[in-house]
Amino acid sequence: MGGPGGTSAPRRTLSASFTTGSSLPVVARFYVTTPIYYVNDVPHIGHAYTTVVADALARWHRLIGDDTFFLTGTDEHGLKVQRAAEANAVTPREWADRTSERFREAWAQLDISNDDFIRTSEPRHHAAVQTILQRVYDNGHIEMGTYEGLYCVSCEAYYTVDDLIDGDRCPIHDRPVEHVKEDNYFFKLSRFTQPLLDWYADHPDFVRPETKRNEALGFIRGGLDDFSISRSSISWGVPLPWDPGHVTYVWFDALVNYLTAVGYGDDPQRFAAWWPAAHHIIGKDILRFHCVYWPAMLMAADIDPPVDVTVHGFLLVGGEKMSKTRLNQIAPADLLGEFGVDGFRYHFLRDTPVGPDGDFSYERMIDRYNGDLANNFGNLLSRVATVVGKKCEGVGPAPRPDSPLAVVAAEAYRATAQAWGEMAPSSALEATWRLIRETNGLLEDNEPWKMAPGPEVEAVLGDALEALRIVAVLASPALPTACAEAWRRIGLEGSPTDEQLPDAASWGGYPGGLPVTRGAPLFPRLTPTPG
Ligand code: MSP
Repeated sequence: MGGPGGTSAPRRTLSASFTTGSSLPVVARFYVTTPIYYVNDVPHIGHAYTTVVADALARWHRLIGDDTFFLTGTDEHGLKVQRAAEANAVTPREWADRTSERFREAWAQLDISNDDFIRTSEPRHHAAVQTILQRVYDNGHIEMGTYEGLYCVSCEAYYTVDDLIDGDRCPIHDRPVEHVKEDNYFFKLSRFTQPLLDWYADHPDFVRPETKRNEALGFIRGGLDDFSISRSSISWGVPLPWDPGHVTYVWFDALVNYLTAVGYGDDPQRFAAWWPAAHHIIGKDILRFHCVYWPAMLMAADIDPPVDVTVHGFLLVGGEKMSKTRLNQIAPADLLGEFGVDGFRYHFLRDTPVGPDGDFSYERMIDRYNGDLANNFGNLLSRVATVVGKKCEGVGPAPRPDSPLAVVAAEAYRATAQAWGEMAPSSALEATWRLIRETNGLLEDNEPWKMAPGPEVEAVLGDALEALRIVAVLASPALPTACAEAWRRIGLEGSPTDEQLPDAASWGGYPGGLPVTRGAPLFPRLTPTPG
């Protein structure tokens, strides 16, 4: 990739691939990221939604054998954090330490399987930011200028009067913007209009869904202004290597976290292995930064843009975006007691398709939990375990090779895999649940609980156990704990996360002759609590 005007050969698969040596097999690499969250705020279900989506994708890619790296973390510099610290009478570092820990705790509670947690205040990140800045500066894409304009501290972004509500309020936060005048360094974004358009033309899946891609293209076609990348009036940030009186603008700093974590400027071999196999998952509020600024910054530093950016909508509460000022934030912990970790994860993955905005509804969360988890998955497991206990002395029979469920399972696997590959967790889970429903249907049609012990009952139960085995693997990215428990109860060793697809989805893997145990309901039915 060269500077402006440079092009790269089209390179597109969902996972970038590399060879480890001439005779070794090709390994796919999948590097998935969440945005790094500002430490001026504490985790709420909007942050949790993005993080659970990225986690489920990471888990899916591990299952299909991709070498997977999952990154999340916290964004700790900038005016917004400096002011939050001042308001709480602590240093920015103390404030960042404290709030960053809240995010770590929330992700541990939600069974998030991140491989790394990056903090922008870490020395490794400062080094990477300075390396890329120097590179872009040396390439001639950073110049001095005077900035006079309107700034929203909550967005850490500049606006023109036309962007604003009534000419003076931020369109995202509905708060007054501030007038700023400074001598700043500017990133020459305007030079990258054509290279960005070329990149989008060569990489039709760079931004998904389509509506968000069009939005990004709209920004680019509308004309790009150079943007200021330094501030001399604040101290909480990464100093510019050639002029330490300035610190880097928070977005230039923050985006680079995706490079830092895979060794940019520090470990060239590791960096070459993971970059650009990156897949960013973000909310729509930060589309412009990820889909316009970021690929241009990378081009300016002679680095390829990532594979793709998946943009989801807002999770609304009462029709409004959650915010501290509106006092409408819901913390993940508020829902975990009632729904459990898996119930929480399942609802957001299944009921908030990636793309449009979704209004959070407690009633819908209850319905989904009772319908899909208690009545379908949980009920299937407990029915099968009960009947195996009564009719087969607690020993699970093997499935029939020619079971009517074999075709259903193959189709469920195909559709599930396709949807995860398209970054569509809701459709993936819908496809997996078809197998659960058909299996419950097979039981209802045959009523093994009414049959006398013998080959007929064993055939039906063997098929159901095999379907449960496959479901436990396919649903494990969403329900890691429940699937591990279902696995154990049907007598299997290890855990579904040790399995490898597609082999683990082939019909006939349940060996039979295993002890099947009953236990407390996997998902006890819930009744809505008033208020
Ligand atoms: N620090 C920047 C991101 C830098 S990434 C290089 C930032 N942080 S943030 O804390 O404001 O988090 C933004 C992200 O949190 C959103 O893009 C989205 O992924 C998630 N969400 C925050 N509120 C949300 C909703 N109400 N609904 C859905 N997701 C939301 O911007």
